[in-house]
Amino acid sequence: MQTRNIFILTGSGISAESGLSTFRDKDGLWAKYNIADVASIEGYQRDPRGVLDFYNVRRANLVGARPNAAHLALAELGARWRHGVVTLVTQNIDNLHELAGFRNVIHMHGELNKMRCGDCGDVRLADDDLTLELVCCACGNIGGLRPHVVWFGEIPLEMDTIYEALARADMFVSIGTSGAVYPAAGFVQAAQEAGIKTVEINLEPSENADMFDIAHYGKASEAVPAWVGEILRGAGAV
Ligand code: OAD
Repeated sequence: MQTRNIFILTGSGISAESGLSTFRDKDGLWAKYNIADVASIEGYQRDPRGVLDFYNVRRANLVGARPNAAHLALAELGARWRHGVVTLVTQNIDNLHELAGFRNVIHMHGELNKMRCGDCGDVRLADDDLTLELVCCACGNIGGLRPHVVWFGEIPLEMDTIYEALARADMFVSIGTSGAVYPAAGFVQAAQEAGIKTVEINLEPSENADMFDIAHYGKASEAVPAWVGEILRGAGAV
């Protein structure tokens, strides 16, 4: 059967070799910070300045980070695939897929380079550090601007679009994610129930490893280009 529509989910493991931290690895962000303090609305209400600073540091780390061979390979797949649609959904808030040239990336956990007004909902690019003194250009309120990222307890973005793309997919590919955070961690089960092929590319087996038909374990910078080459050469025959 010819593969037409490919649905790809990426996580922080794809950006690790670009110098950005993962979350749950031994030296990952959640080994250094308390999730509830920096990635929840309650944490933000308790210490808004501390939370803004946490994301200001993440944004500073993005400056100079370059896409690696895995991001570039997915961009190549997106540009060259002629049999259907390649949907790229990322849990990452970095912009490395875009810098690699992938168009229309769906950022289900938001984007570090954008800010959102908690008062009026206006979203725009954040050129500089966020502070409590900033004024919203749309509503004029002061102190309501927060990173345009999804915190625990909030609903991820573009879920309708994501589930529609998943329903049309013939192949589900998960790259560089531990499979620990829902709803993204549930996509493989939805794919399995729909009877489509499931592929995992990760440094090690994820929490949902037993739900994948095929697994490629290794560094994303090597395993992803190898898989993309295979798919493009075989034109997606499954
Ligand atoms: P995790 O830190 O949970 O998982 C990263 C995965 O990448 C692990 O399974 C690693 O083995 C793998 N990995 C590490 N280096 C790799 C490499 N060079 N090549 C391939 N794989 C590698 O990160 P995520 O699964 O992305 O959400 O975490 C999901 C969500 O949890 C994040 O979006 C974030 C976090 O809390 C929010 O903040 C809402």
